[in-house]
Amino acid sequence: MPRGVTDLVVHPAERPLQGSVPVPSDKSIGHRAVLFSSLCNGRSRIRGFSRGEDNVSTMRALQRMGATVTDVSKTEILVDGVGLFGLKAPDGPLDCGNSGTTMRLFVGLLAAQTFESVLVGDASLTRRPMMRVAKPIRDRGGRVEGAPHPTKAAEITAPLRVGPVPEGRELGPLEAVSEVASAQVKSAVLLSGLYAHGPTIFREPTVSRDHTERMMLALGVPLRVVGPIVQLDPAGWSGEMPPLDVEIPGDVSAAAFLVTAGALVAGSRVTVRGVGVNPTRTGFLEIARDMGVALVVENRGDMGGEPVADLHAAPGPLRAGRVGGELVPRAVDEIPIVCALAARSPGVTVVRDAAELRVKESDRIATMCGVLRAFGVECEELPDGMCIQGKPEGKLSAAEVESRGDHRIAMTAAVMGLVADAPTMIRDCDCIATSFPKFVGTLRALGARVDVA
Ligand code: S3P
Repeated sequence: MPRGVTDLVVHPAERPLQGSVPVPSDKSIGHRAVLFSSLCNGRSRIRGFSRGEDNVSTMRALQRMGATVTDVSKTEILVDGVGLFGLKAPDGPLDCGNSGTTMRLFVGLLAAQTFESVLVGDASLTRRPMMRVAKPIRDRGGRVEGAPHPTKAAEITAPLRVGPVPEGRELGPLEAVSEVASAQVKSAVLLSGLYAHGPTIFREPTVSRDHTERMMLALGVPLRVVGPIVQLDPAGWSGEMPPLDVEIPGDVSAAAFLVTAGALVAGSRVTVRGVGVNPTRTGFLEIARDMGVALVVENRGDMGGEPVADLHAAPGPLRAGRVGGELVPRAVDEIPIVCALAARSPGVTVVRDAAELRVKESDRIATMCGVLRAFGVECEELPDGMCIQGKPEGKLSAAEVESRGDHRIAMTAAVMGLVADAPTMIRDCDCIATSFPKFVGTLRALGARVDVA
């Protein structure tokens, strides 16, 4: 990965972090809100839409297929949908940037169209496995072709060629059993199911984030959910979806960095307002509490069918954690920042059942182990996780680390830098803009000293 232009220098915190801050709106819900709005009949209103690069990739691609987006303010957009069957062929490849969610959801949506689409992405996305979405879509008669994966046999990656459904044909019924709990695969399958002739049944090992299901149900899509099994039967359904009017809650995955910063810097009191606390996403909050973080969740409410709350975090007596099983899909993006907590917790924290981390924006098991060691923390890499020997006494050793173009690694290293013994240099931090463009400003607002080099 070429070096980015932005490096960060994080100074050790000299005083407690204090304050009440927002986070960008939930990236996962943002993708789905703009995607479904584009398929609705009429004008949808989305409040709190994040301008993080990943959400913008999804929005731009939909605009190129005919959806009209009007900016009302920095955070509010209106989307004139084209209806389920109204998308038109884009005039060239659709750039999904760094966003795996954009690419995988589009595979399901675009395999059902009467035109061919080409999906491309950045260097990281061009290494991510796409067979997990290609296989079920092919099984129902859809066309998905990709480039051979550079290192994995029988695997494909971007660029992808998707669709069309041949004239006079339709996608067929599908019963898909996914080996991994994956909301991206589930959503791709369900999106293709909107256009299929016959029912779709999707089963996963444990429940992954359910934002797609919630939004489909709100739009009147004939869906049934029983634990980790989702069934969609479009027989007798009009295919008409009324416009959405939603406000998107704050991203718990972004909040996790601030909660951890508040838990690690002595004397801190950090509040993150308006955070989505959908139970399929709150694994991190459970892990943090279990590891001793003084975490209070209050002001619970509802935003567009998604639960929301304020989070208050302060240091508590930390202890090592155990992360595995059904907790992993509910905290899948937060494992790097759990490692930062583990780095300061007495004892050995063990993360298992997390092999999926190897195929995220970077190999997060290998990358995180490298970051931990750079900060003087001992850890052992396992095929599906890691063991981290906490270093609660003294400070971490100031480090110079590479983000490997992975936003969650860059932000985790920044939080660790707050409790290091000298300034920490984090290279290649442009990637933070994919999910949390105001990350540095937010840390500064809490009282941290961060320089942009
Ligand atoms: C996402 C699902 C998860 C997650 C990703 C966003 C989504 O990926 O890691 O950041 O919005 O559906 P998987 O489906 O691969 O677990």
